[in-house]
Amino acid sequence: MRQITVVEDPGAAVAERLTAAALQGADIVLTGGSTPRGAYAIAAEEDADWSDATVWFSDERCVPPDHPDSNFGMAHRALLGRLTNPPRVMRMEGELGPEAAAGVYEALVREHLGNDPRFDLVLLGMGPDVHVASLFPGKPELEETRRLVVGVPIAGMEPQVPRVTLTLPVLNRARVVDFLIAGDDKAQAVARAFGDPPDPDAPAARVRPEDGSIFVFVDEAAAALL
Ligand code: 6PG
Repeated sequence: MRQITVVEDPGAAVAERLTAAALQGADIVLTGGSTPRGAYAIAAEEDADWSDATVWFSDERCVPPDHPDSNFGMAHRALLGRLTNPPRVMRMEGELGPEAAAGVYEALVREHLGNDPRFDLVLLGMGPDVHVASLFPGKPELEETRRLVVGVPIAGMEPQVPRVTLTLPVLNRARVVDFLIAGDDKAQAVARAFGDPPDPDAPAARVRPEDGSIFVFVDEAAAALL
C-alpha cells in the first residue's frame, strides 16, 4: 500500500506520526537532513512520553556525535535531547569508520530485533538525486541483498564523508515507511521516485516494504511534477 499526501506542512504531519508511534512504544528509525529537522522540532514541542519507544537511525556520517554533520547530533539537538521522557536511543557510531560502525550496528539490530528485524516506523527523507538514507544512485551499497547495515566509503553528495546506512533488505521489511519531502528542488526527484512509472534506478523507488505501507508526505512545491 502506498499513499501520497500533499500538505502545506508535511513536517507537522510527520511529527504527529512520530509522536503517535512513540506513545505506542515503537521501534522508530529517524533520518538526517534539514527537512526532518523541522519535523523533529515540532515533535519536541509536543513533548510526548517517548520512554517506551526505541529510536534507531537510517544512516550516519562518519564523524563524532557532536560534529555538526552528525545525523544523531542533529536529532539529539532538535528532538531527543529536548524530551522530558526520552526514548532508548540506538545511534550509529560513525566515528568508528564505515565498516566497523556498520558491523557494530548490524549486531545491535539483530540483538534487539532478531535476524529478520522489522522496524515499526521508518522515516526517510530524499535527496534531489533521489537517494534515501545513504543509498546513492548507482553505488554498490544499493545492491546489497544480505547485510542489514553497510559502510559507504564514498558518499554520493555533500558532506563528502564516508557513511553508514541501513540497506534495502531491512528497509523493505519495515511495517511502515514515511517519506518526508519538501521544496521545489525535490520536484523532479519526487516524480522519478513516485511517478508512474517510477524510475527503476531511483533508490527511493526501490523502497517497497513487502508486507508494509508507504506514506509519502510532500508539500505542493515538491509534488509539482507528479
Ligand atoms: C543524510 C540523510 C539523507 C537525507 C536526505 C534529505 O544523512 O544525508 O539521511 O538521506 O534524509 O538527503 O535531506 P534534506 O531533507 O536535507 O534534503
